[in-house]
Amino acid sequence: MKQEYSLVSSQLRPFVKWAGGKRQLLPIISSHIPAKFERYFEPFLGGGAVFFSLVSQRNDVKWLLSDLNSDLVLSYTTIRDKVDDLIAALEQHSSAYFKDPNSYYYSVRERSTRGRIEKVSRLIFLNRTCFNGLYRVNSKGKFNVPLGRYVNPNIVNRENLLAVSEALRSRDISIKCQDFEEALKIPACGDFVYLDPPYQPVSDTSNFTSYTNDSFGYEDQERLFYRFKALDKKGVKILMSNSKSPAIIELFKEFSDGMVEINANRSINSVSQKRTGHAELLIMNYGIRQSR
Ligand SMILES: C[S@@+](CC[C@H](N)C(=O)[O-])C[C@H]1O[C@@H](n2cnc3c(N)ncnc32)[C@H](O)[C@@H]1O
Repeated sequence: MKQEYSLVSSQLRPFVKWAGGKRQLLPIISSHIPAKFERYFEPFLGGGAVFFSLVSQRNDVKWLLSDLNSDLVLSYTTIRDKVDDLIAALEQHSSAYFKDPNSYYYSVRERSTRGRIEKVSRLIFLNRTCFNGLYRVNSKGKFNVPLGRYVNPNIVNRENLLAVSEALRSRDISIKCQDFEEALKIPACGDFVYLDPPYQPVSDTSNFTSYTNDSFGYEDQERLFYRFKALDKKGVKILMSNSKSPAIIELFKEFSDGMVEINANRSINSVSQKRTGHAELLIMNYGIRQSR
């Protein structure tokens, strides 16, 4: 079998732990990704677990990535353009943190930031040291998670940041802050779209935390469904992750032939008793066999 030579490290990992992150589900998600496509679209990028697992393997692809969270998008572009300054700022955070974790964490959490290096280093620092590594803002857009119980958090993951920076510079990658509907106007036949929206709650009490100021409601799932249908008509291959909720099964029922149930063990949930394996869905508009 032909092995592709790649300059980009195959060890790339997300540089933040993100709510809804897909690292644990990568083997099953990857097994459903088409063998060939021209452009890759991921409009709910988050920590980018799926993107990072693919980018080192596919050399000729154009990558169009986006997310509505402006701080997250700024983190990607800062790692791409200013990785050395960012690492230096994280090293400062790290040495101050280890002198007095509790007071330093809360002083950074309450601090307002100026400039991209300060903003992004704060986001990564908080993500590495906060409880559960859960990025969550309240209705005022404020990060309100308490300090986590880590003995030795790896605040400056230098090797991975450098590898991510190199990947973002050396490949044909566009990263934008935008709503998914805007991003999904572009794909055409021959392209592949991976959708990982905030999940539809399975029940009223299982509501997931907010990633941005605006929560993602059922009307957004409907907007997504109409884009899914429009892309399907254009001949775009689409794979979506979502909850196995009655609302999603009903909304996407015309794609029920491409629904696969998978078992996930979500580690991010603020109520620890709820951290049990549960079923999720993959919904695709292409045949599993013929696409591989
Ligand atoms: C489930 S997370 C994606 C997780 C990602 N796959 C990972 O591995 O980390 C959903 C993402 O959708 C983003 N988001 C929420 N509403 C959005 C919208 N209307 N348009 C685009 N992105 C949105 C959130 O900021 C969040 O990063």
